[in-house]
Amino acid sequence: MTAPESFPEDLYQTLADFQQTHLLAWWDELNERERSELLAQIQRINFAQIQRLYTPDPSAKSEESPAQKAERATRPATVVRLEDRKSAPTESEKATAQGNQLLAAGRVGAILVAGGQGSRLGFSHPKGMYPIGPVKQTSLFQILVEQLRARARQAGQPISYFIMTSDATHEETVEYFQQHQNFGLSSDDLYFFKQGTMPAVDAESGQILLEQKHYIAVSPDGHGGMLAALKNNGMFDVMREKGIDTLYYHQVDNPTAIVCDPEFLGYHQNANAAVSVKVVSKRSPDEKMGVVCDVDQKTQIIEYSDLPDSIAEQTDEAGNLLHWAGSTAIHIFNRDFLEQIANDDARLPFHQANKKVPFIDASGSQVAPEEPNAIKFERFIFDVLPEADTVLVYETDRSREFNPVKNAEGQDSPRTAHEALNLIFSDWLQSCGVKLPADAIVEISPLFAVDETELKQKISVDTQFTSPLYLGE
Ligand code: UD1
Repeated sequence: MTAPESFPEDLYQTLADFQQTHLLAWWDELNERERSELLAQIQRINFAQIQRLYTPDPSAKSEESPAQKAERATRPATVVRLEDRKSAPTESEKATAQGNQLLAAGRVGAILVAGGQGSRLGFSHPKGMYPIGPVKQTSLFQILVEQLRARARQAGQPISYFIMTSDATHEETVEYFQQHQNFGLSSDDLYFFKQGTMPAVDAESGQILLEQKHYIAVSPDGHGGMLAALKNNGMFDVMREKGIDTLYYHQVDNPTAIVCDPEFLGYHQNANAAVSVKVVSKRSPDEKMGVVCDVDQKTQIIEYSDLPDSIAEQTDEAGNLLHWAGSTAIHIFNRDFLEQIANDDARLPFHQANKKVPFIDASGSQVAPEEPNAIKFERFIFDVLPEADTVLVYETDRSREFNPVKNAEGQDSPRTAHEALNLIFSDWLQSCGVKLPADAIVEISPLFAVDETELKQKISVDTQFTSPLYLGE
């Protein structure tokens, strides 16, 4: 077999070795631009890895599945419970002071994963652009950036923001930040880095699918792709040069995440943990949250899609959910720990998902499958947990900190996030002695006050407010 005209011979041999020469089925028809696009895509694929990952029958896999692991999962052995923190204010204050010291020393950076689009919300843009502020419709991005700036201002030290985008969100996100002058964040403190992709394969044959005659069907490689993306884009070098050794990680869908929470940072440092995770009590067994548990004395997260219902529903003698600890996907990672795993690519596993992926069939026709026809591969960043010597599990207050925007309606929707923000801000004002009408609509920019304590310093008890109320910089 020889390579088609102007296709590199050695690469053709690789395709042949891995039974993927069908990718060139339309090569002769393609124009020069299309050929170079297809060639570039093929050059980026690790065919040996795809062959290794493709298992038509996952039950035949030699390693244990997450569902099998879940059978012997127990509650995480050590958890810092919310009630315990509340009843030990001195310890909390000490942790907060310690976290503030880390921030003031410039040792903390923040990572935001924002590779997802708002499609589930019927919003055809990067999810971070979704308007969510109760009064000013401030976007998720703006709320989070303003929090980071407010925290940096308090610390008297800039905090770098590392924002992960994907093919689908990169350009629009960067443009959006430019249009808004980065929401006041200095460009010295803002880094965008794009995650990679993985090809989708035909579920029956393992052959990589063509979405068009010159374009391979690919999808983002999951937020676990962050490690390779940080490494390949020189982000670890930036962090090292800036003296950043502690990374505060969060997702773009949660406007109430406390960005760079000093208390959590303090507990993380005290525990000497390589990774920390904030959890909340799951609302119900079927809530779509990864559960934090121990398997063979290793703290880890089992994703909801991998957790059999029968295990999710297990309860203890008191009738409480055995696996109550839902992951908010807010983490602290030590930089050197992440770097070690990034340098040893095989340590972070891939998950496979059966999906409907449109493709070009052997006759060259476009097929839009009605049933899942393909396997997509992605990595989850939380799979680094079992690699860590010490993991801190830390419970937070759901109403204060976990109000994600996931669905167009119902639970975890724009409406619930709106209400949650309104309630948080109204509570702060009321605790400052401000009287508000029951139906008041309130939005407080983090630049006015990042928390209740800062708000108390800014307003006096007799301040009169009318609704809707926006307190900005
Ligand atoms: C996620 C967690 C779940 C956790 C819940 C808390 C996963 C697989 N599951 O569920 O354990 O309890 O959040 O809210 O993450 N993203 C990328 N690139 C990707 C994929 C995702 O940047 O390739 C980002 C998204 O922009 C989003 C976040 O990761 O910010 C979460 O992704 P999503 O797929 O929405 O996860 P959930 O199902 O909500």
